[in-house]
Amino acid sequence: MPTDAAPRPILIAPSVLPADFSKLGEECQALEEAGVDRIQWDVMDGQFVPNLTFGPDVIAACRPHVDLLFEAHLMVNTPEVLLERYVEAGCGLIIIHAESTIHLHRCLGQVRDAGARAAVALNPSTPIEQVENVLDLLDMVLIMTINPGFGGQPYLPSMEPKLTALRRVILERGLDIDIEVDGGIGPTTISGATAAGANVLVAGSALYRDPQGLGHAVADLRARAEAAQAGQS
Ligand code: DX5
Repeated sequence: MPTDAAPRPILIAPSVLPADFSKLGEECQALEEAGVDRIQWDVMDGQFVPNLTFGPDVIAACRPHVDLLFEAHLMVNTPEVLLERYVEAGCGLIIIHAESTIHLHRCLGQVRDAGARAAVALNPSTPIEQVENVLDLLDMVLIMTINPGFGGQPYLPSMEPKLTALRRVILERGLDIDIEVDGGIGPTTISGATAAGANVLVAGSALYRDPQGLGHAVADLRARAEAAQAGQS
């Protein structure tokens, strides 16, 4: 675990992909009551990934039901075309895949001009060098620990050295940037991801399959991540 000047707060960000789509507003309220820190919307266009999910109007319909930050994980081709719509729908943080646009720097500027915080997501095979020239525009980097498109896939521990290398770059430059991980995060994997340098943890399946409910799942994941960050796991 790289030595942080001060450990960054552990944030639990549920993916609503496993939620009941027939009542997403209530599902967001249940997540807020369970103690999550924000909600991640996995936006998929059926092209960048072989799945299709939430348009901006769906997110806008859920916006009034909770006060939590919404982040839109845009797993879409040409994110430039739609990103403002997701900001208008109530997403305060927009995550752009480095692989999804040839003009990443300009696209991130578009996000900030729209009034949202900006993040870049890196698929497992994409090196961290892809973000080194845009770190000044970023509030967060998302390291995918699965290949995007579907929940419930196994965690890729091979991404942990990538997390640590990224954390080192951020520390060396003294930047105020969170590192998020997404995919296969649960009770047996969250400690490794956090110890490697992540502080924002996306979980979908692990939250919804906890037999003791969302509140227990969130508290358990948070406790495990905080212990790992403190070097106690
Ligand atoms: C997949 C999504 C993930 C997923 C959550 O492309 O980005 O957020 O829904 O993954 P699990 O269910 O593994 O936590």
